[in-house]
Amino acid sequence: MKRFTAILTQIWTVIDDRTGLSEMVAPLLSHLVPPGAKWSYVFGSATLFVFILQVVTGTALATIYIPSTQDAYQSINFITNEATFGSLLRGIHFFGASAMVVLIGIHALRTFLTGSFKFPREANWLTGLVLLALTLGMGFTGQLLRWDQNAIWSVVVGSEMAGNSPVIGDQLAKFILAGETLGGATLSRFTAFHVFFIPGLIFAFVGFHLYLVIRNGISEPPEVGHPVDPKTYRSWYQKMLHERGVPFWPDAAWRDVMFGVGVIIVIVSLALILGPPLLDKPPDPTIVQANPHPDWYLLWFFALLALTPPPLEKFAILLFPLVGGLVMVGLPFIANRGERHYKRRPWAVGAVLMIILMIGTLGIAGKQSNWSPDFDPTPLPATVVGTTTGPIADGAQLFNERGCENCHRIAGYGGRRGPDLSTVGDRRTEEQLTIRILNGGTNMPAFGSTLTPDEVDALVAFLQSRTTNQ
Ligand code: HEC
Repeated sequence: MKRFTAILTQIWTVIDDRTGLSEMVAPLLSHLVPPGAKWSYVFGSATLFVFILQVVTGTALATIYIPSTQDAYQSINFITNEATFGSLLRGIHFFGASAMVVLIGIHALRTFLTGSFKFPREANWLTGLVLLALTLGMGFTGQLLRWDQNAIWSVVVGSEMAGNSPVIGDQLAKFILAGETLGGATLSRFTAFHVFFIPGLIFAFVGFHLYLVIRNGISEPPEVGHPVDPKTYRSWYQKMLHERGVPFWPDAAWRDVMFGVGVIIVIVSLALILGPPLLDKPPDPTIVQANPHPDWYLLWFFALLALTPPPLEKFAILLFPLVGGLVMVGLPFIANRGERHYKRRPWAVGAVLMIILMIGTLGIAGKQSNWSPDFDPTPLPATVVGTTTGPIADGAQLFNERGCENCHRIAGYGGRRGPDLSTVGDRRTEEQLTIRILNGGTNMPAFGSTLTPDEVDALVAFLQSRTTNQ
């Protein structure tokens, strides 16, 4: 045994001599950090932990996923239902994505609340903003790779919204779709961005961000009546570290490790218990969905646009992210000195509360409001339909399969974007129903070119049977 450890030590000495690993790592671990950096400082490192988890699971998924319009849906189906650990991997990757958005959001709010973006850490803040934008970009591009109904229509709507923005709208929409319409080129572009381009940028910026964290030092927990003055801050900080600093490992880092491991355990448990999101139906361009719902962290923005009066919506699309982005980028330029403690920065506390309240309420509004259809409605049971054969039964089936039920409610089943059709037979004639289905209406797509005459007849027969006294 002794001989064995001696050999190991010898091997390590040789490796360390040729590579200088310990020279590189030891100062990182032992460097002094301010005392009292408590649990609120763990969210940045946890974001990094989850990012690594995403890289690992994403790479594993990429060994099976086929980024072509022909095979994408099937390959995800295969991953979910057949591949070894496939369902678990997809689940982890899905919940990991949400966790990353939540953690980076909390990290940004925390740095803002403790005034850590002030001198000399302005560049830490700016590189962090780039990472925040890149993370949202990963969410948006990843969603399309599922290549199911919901995924492709979310991107269609997203690009239509971008296309509505003034001046650069057309170019923006073309850039997103990689052409005039959604298709194979779009999927290739999204895949390249999702697996190569954006992750590459994230790696680079994480490196830069961490380098800055070490160079400028972790910000000390703010104290009331202790404003930042660029002239004296650095020498004060060095002196404080010298007198009261603690080594990064283990005094400060153990919390990062504990919390990071905890987060990963939660993600894996969610993946095991809830599993990956169900795949929607395979994409079918004949089924028009006017308003699919995007993943939750973009939902509030869709809701905001839906609640904006239509004439202003055009500008809100561009203006809102632009103003929000400019304020965040401008922050360290206009407020990089002075008090850091939240007790002396009431406007900062107010801003944070407002952001949380806005995203929260808009998210809930987005989930519940009428503008968002139900994408996975339960087919109408036979007790509601009243029969299991003939045109009425066929019509009921088409009502579900062709997406009518996504927008229309019957006897409590289905979405609420359009009017409830439980008793539409009382108020509409055969002719009115036919015309409506063929031509569509405000916020209802026209089905004239996608349904056969027989299918239209069956739908009309079914709708006519929806009366108060069936
Ligand atoms: C994207 C959502 C959406 C889809 C999908 C949709 N509709 Fe509609 N539908 C609406 C909206 C919104 C209205 C009301 C707006 C209007 O009158 O222009 C409406 C109106 C109607 C009406 C008139 C209701 C009345 O009270 O007069 C009928 C009938 C109807 N839809 C049937 C269908 C059928 C059948 C399908 C499937 C082939 C379908 N809809 C698919 C959104 C949708």
